[in-house]
Amino acid sequence: MTDVQALEGQILNAIAGAADEAALEAVRVSALGKKGAISELLKSLGSMSPDERKANGPLFNTLRDRAVTAIAERKRTLEDAALNARLATEKVDITLPVRPEPTGSIHPVSQAFDELIAIFADLGFAVAEGPDVEYDDYNFTKLNIPPDHPARQMHDTFYVSKQADGSRHVLRTHTSPVQVRTMLNRNPPIRIISPGRTYRVDSDATHSPMFHQFEGLVVDEVTHLGHLKWVLEEFCKAFFEVDKVEMRARPSFFPFTEPSVEWDLRCDRSGGQIKFGTGNDWLELAGSGMVNPRVLENCGIDSAKYQGYAFGGGIDRLAMLKYGIPDIRAFFESDLRWLRAYGFAALDIPTLDGGLSR
Ligand code: PHE
Repeated sequence: MTDVQALEGQILNAIAGAADEAALEAVRVSALGKKGAISELLKSLGSMSPDERKANGPLFNTLRDRAVTAIAERKRTLEDAALNARLATEKVDITLPVRPEPTGSIHPVSQAFDELIAIFADLGFAVAEGPDVEYDDYNFTKLNIPPDHPARQMHDTFYVSKQADGSRHVLRTHTSPVQVRTMLNRNPPIRIISPGRTYRVDSDATHSPMFHQFEGLVVDEVTHLGHLKWVLEEFCKAFFEVDKVEMRARPSFFPFTEPSVEWDLRCDRSGGQIKFGTGNDWLELAGSGMVNPRVLENCGIDSAKYQGYAFGGGIDRLAMLKYGIPDIRAFFESDLRWLRAYGFAALDIPTLDGGLSR
């Protein structure tokens, strides 16, 4: 009796003290294996008298059951501990970069897009987009440029194949068709900005057949040229990261705006570096004007109730000036060495708070 109790204490201690699964297995074999202590006890029942067997049988069986249960419990504890230890060593921090440093970089034109969007978003403008292959109707006709209009010659257009119904598609010659798409799909008040690719048959040191423009459109019940000027001024200050700019207005003509104004930005190019707000040079910034009421009507907007202003200009030139890039063609040559020199860190998202182009 005392022997059985002592044996039980000894076995349970050994189970509790087994530090890993191999040690636990050794304890199990020594207790319950073929020649184990408990197995020997159970075997000894066979040579006992019936009375002895009756007295000892339940004791031995209870001992065996307790040992089996204790081993199973200890096994589960050790397995859990082993799994936790493995999880701890195999933990992967998925927020770490895959490589020590990101190797790609952001193209200066994409950077300029991102900066422009951040600035106009702060002024309450949403981003709108349109396709590069555009309806002739949206690129020209709805913008008050009918088929025989001389203004079509201003744009050296890439025409895409004629459709079955006789209509033509073009590679959009400006981002202004996004004005049309926006007005057709949304009700005023409208306040959108649309940077994107544009195409004209033109190629030399300062012109590329594919280039980038930004378009702005505001349609509301009360809008005027003062709003337009303020918005462009705020944009220039933020984009060029200066406190003061000076803009000059020139009367101009666009079929889709009336009156039309072109804006130049005062700058100083002496001394190799460009400065804004001083100097005697002028940089062409944007074409603009009050949206021609005929365009509003063409797009289903009541011109008696609403007016609007629109502006548009080239982004490539702004990016070249801001980042000191001398030749527009380098933008589109996909030269990795150039991109490494002029590209921007992929994870630096331009924001007005954080700085646009650190
Ligand atoms: N779309 C004109 C251009 O490409 C620019 C412009 C946009 C002018 C909006 C007026 C209003 O030259």
